[in-house]
Amino acid sequence: SDDASTEKESTLAMIKPDGLNYTDDVKRIVNDFGFSILRELTVQLDEDEVKVFYSEHSKRSFFPNLVKYMTSGPVFVMVLEKVNAVSDWRDLIGPTDARKAKITHPHSIRAMCGLDSERNCVHGSDSLQSATREISFFFRRIVSTEGRVSKHDEL
Ligand code: TYD
Ligand code: MG
Repeated sequence: SDDASTEKESTLAMIKPDGLNYTDDVKRIVNDFGFSILRELTVQLDEDEVKVFYSEHSKRSFFPNLVKYMTSGPVFVMVLEKVNAVSDWRDLIGPTDARKAKITHPHSIRAMCGLDSERNCVHGSDSLQSATREISFFFRRIVSTEGRVSKHDEL
């Protein structure tokens, strides 16, 4: 990333139901690229939870399929911390359409474990603001308004 900030950020990473077999591979990438894992959680989302998590897409034609996909099995969620965590994690996962990722970003995580634009195996927050919202969606207690983990919380 060309962001010159030296402040640590937290971002939300998620392995979607079809990607769980790749958990070890994803965690190796997480470690190799210097992220700290502040929290992890395996959880089965229900339809209402997915609708809230992805509410920005509620009017899109793919939304019903997205809800079905995201409730088809448990997801594995991580809070990742490092300098530039948000954009660096987005860079590592690659484009939304995993078919495209296999061509244009062959070393990306979505190229590794995704299938297409719907079943793309991983999630990453798209901004610091999204990261704050998404981390607090899963981990209510640990996030400050700046999207960073409070120094006062025990990890
Ligand atoms: P989006 O926020 O556009 O992508 P990203 O996950 O890269 O931030 O879309 C959210 C999810 O919605 C996406 O990961 C998979 C699903 N989706 C589809 O099923 N079909 C589509 O055409 C798009 C754009 C997204
Ligand atoms: Mg998005």
